[in-house]
Amino acid sequence: MKIKNICCIGAGYVGGPTMSVLALKNPNIKVTVVDINQDRINSWNDENLGDLPIYEPGLEEIVNEARGRNLFFSTDVEKAIDEAEMIFISVNTPTKTYGKGKGMAADLKYIELCARQIAKVATTDKIVVEKSTLPVRTAQAIKDILDNTGNGVKFQILSNPEFLAEGTAVQDLLTPDRVLIGGEESEEGTIAMNSLVEIYATWIPKENILTTNVWSSELSKLVANAFLAQRVSSINAISELCEVTGADVGEVSRAIGMDSRIGPKFLKASVGFGGSCFQKDILNLVYIAKTYGLNEVADYWEQVIIMNDYQKRRFADNIVSTLYNTVSGKKITFLGWAFKKDTNDTRESAAIYVADALMNEQAEIIVYDPKVSEKRIYEDLDYLGSRSPEENRRLLKVVKDPYIASEEAHAIAILTEWDEFIEYDWKKIYDSVVKPAFVFDGRKLLDAELMSKIGFDYSSIGISKTQNK
Ligand code: NAD
Ligand code: UDX
Repeated sequence: MKIKNICCIGAGYVGGPTMSVLALKNPNIKVTVVDINQDRINSWNDENLGDLPIYEPGLEEIVNEARGRNLFFSTDVEKAIDEAEMIFISVNTPTKTYGKGKGMAADLKYIELCARQIAKVATTDKIVVEKSTLPVRTAQAIKDILDNTGNGVKFQILSNPEFLAEGTAVQDLLTPDRVLIGGEESEEGTIAMNSLVEIYATWIPKENILTTNVWSSELSKLVANAFLAQRVSSINAISELCEVTGADVGEVSRAIGMDSRIGPKFLKASVGFGGSCFQKDILNLVYIAKTYGLNEVADYWEQVIIMNDYQKRRFADNIVSTLYNTVSGKKITFLGWAFKKDTNDTRESAAIYVADALMNEQAEIIVYDPKVSEKRIYEDLDYLGSRSPEENRRLLKVVKDPYIASEEAHAIAILTEWDEFIEYDWKKIYDSVVKPAFVFDGRKLLDAELMSKIGFDYSSIGISKTQNK
């Protein structure tokens, strides 16, 4: 079955870039991305490409080429559903903040709303594609809703989880390691899967497009994120051991990464992983395991989160103890707020939790991030609910120039690995800060030897301090 018209519900970090690339590579398919958030849609339609709602290297060029040709952004959800033969659901699936499974399970209310809306509107057969990350067996729930509330038309449900990482979304979409498609094991299921395979095959080699049953596909996404996060927590656990023994975590990573069975990627020690996916998806996995009574399995994976929380706390504690056990009234400059470089996304960023811990100690935080807005930073803090919005604005200020941000600082903390931080005139910064000039590098980004030579008291995740000197 040749697809001519696609609708994607959810114009976020996944829906926007994914559909832009799909439209770019399939000029004969009309792709409409819909969202209930009018501001977001307005930004996607903005003439000024610098104002797209998401910053991703290379995305502006793609939107510029496809938008208005066969790529459209709209708030008319019903019209887009009605016209499409294939509907991607790419809405958010955050951790539940209420009721049963609070703080662990995925909140599926937005998914269910989409399913109900599709059922209500559809007057022709549809292929519904789960693009959002979902607990294993969600396709069953979606099918139940569609079959029981629809207008008698036929639905096929596919699972097609997205593996892009933020900051490299365009590259990941253009040359993915693999595309995963799960479908029903029936003739209709195979036809539906093949129609999606054909769309991807316009730019991805067929051997990289895997087809499986729906449950394996849904579960694989959670497992992929759990394995990736586990590597970060594993190396972060070792970083503390390096700090007390004189080993250098970078050298340990390099040494173990050259073992082809381990591999070199995802072994960078850090202040802790962030992002909208890792924590949410592991908690979801833990919850599913618990639901089936698999307590040892649940505990095993939960430890990845426990280690990550510890790493963030440890970073903040180290700042306080190094600054003579008090940071009250001291100015601490944060370089970076995003959860990783090359994105303006801050969801679950380690910076939020480190700032919160230091503000509890009455530190004064000055933040500079090349891409994150002041509004976003305050929203992140207010969301925690640790103190009043007024207090957050009193204790934390956002500055647009890194050199001004650093003036008179008692310490500089690096929270995101933005490339530009390496290029700064660190001698100039040294001259403008309070002495002793402390730098806490949460990303192992700067040259320890150079920093010490300039005169900084430099400490980095995973390197013992005496080793720098
Ligand atoms: P997001 O919050 O950026 O975007 C979701 C969008 O869906 C929002 O704009 C919201 O307004 C819209 N929406 C919600 N309910 C709607 C409805 N009923 N009708 C129309 N629009 C609706 O989320 P995201 O980061 O794009 O993530 C989406 C899904 O993809 C999640 O399940 C996530 O786990 C998964 N995922 C995310 C990433 C990532 O890097 N962000 C990577 C892989 C998978
Ligand atoms: C992740 C998965 O990589 C991606 O496949 C999935 O689709 C969504 O979740 P993302 O969260 O966007 O992507 O970024 P990722 O590059 O995985 O980084 C996540 C966090 O781990 C960041 O805070 C990053 O700084 C941290 N990290 C990553 C480390 O601390 N060390 C590493 O070696 C790698």
